[in-house]
Amino acid sequence: MKRPDATAETIATLREEAAACRACPLWENATQTVFGEGPQRARIMLVGEQPGDKEDLAGKPFVGPAGQMLDRALKEASIDRTKAYVTNAVKHFKFVPRGKIRLHQKPGTPEIRACRPWYERELASIKPALVVAMGATAAQSVLGKITPINRNRGHLIELADGIKALVTVHPSYLLRLPDEAAKAREYERFVDDLKIAAQALKQTAHAA
Ligand code: URA
Repeated sequence: MKRPDATAETIATLREEAAACRACPLWENATQTVFGEGPQRARIMLVGEQPGDKEDLAGKPFVGPAGQMLDRALKEASIDRTKAYVTNAVKHFKFVPRGKIRLHQKPGTPEIRACRPWYERELASIKPALVVAMGATAAQSVLGKITPINRNRGHLIELADGIKALVTVHPSYLLRLPDEAAKAREYERFVDDLKIAAQALKQTAHAA
């Protein structure tokens, strides 16, 4: 059971405040802040990199192709997305215009650092049992330092306050793989990592 904390900010109030965030220049070209979404009492928090084109327009995280890939993998790992809090390390879309297309640009350390207070406040508000960091940007924000994915993926890492973290690849990485066999293999590894997360959640539920 989570203890109620009268001082904790709710996600609703944080979202409202973040809508006016000017902590880095990304807000200037993005449509809107894409804040995290999910139940206030979620036990699992999924962290991605930054909103993409579709998310920027919809104002919701993981609703585009990477989101569909994530949804499929979550289902296979028996994780209910409606019970998860889903967010990004960076909350504005970074892109360069190329004709009618907006080309995704990887956020840099200054943007990740500028946005980190939002992640910290989301974490303090939700107090999940487990945080899943998907990809290098998320891992940098969640673990507070540059963290190579392959060396650190798939096992539980202790954060402060008894919260655990698990690092895995970003679903967009799977979409970018050109070779179908590699895609299938890497997808299975991603699902396996999510199954470890599902198992850890079950164990913390029993221990509570
Ligand atoms: N990629 C991300 O990291 N986050 C999203 O919300 C969408 C795509």
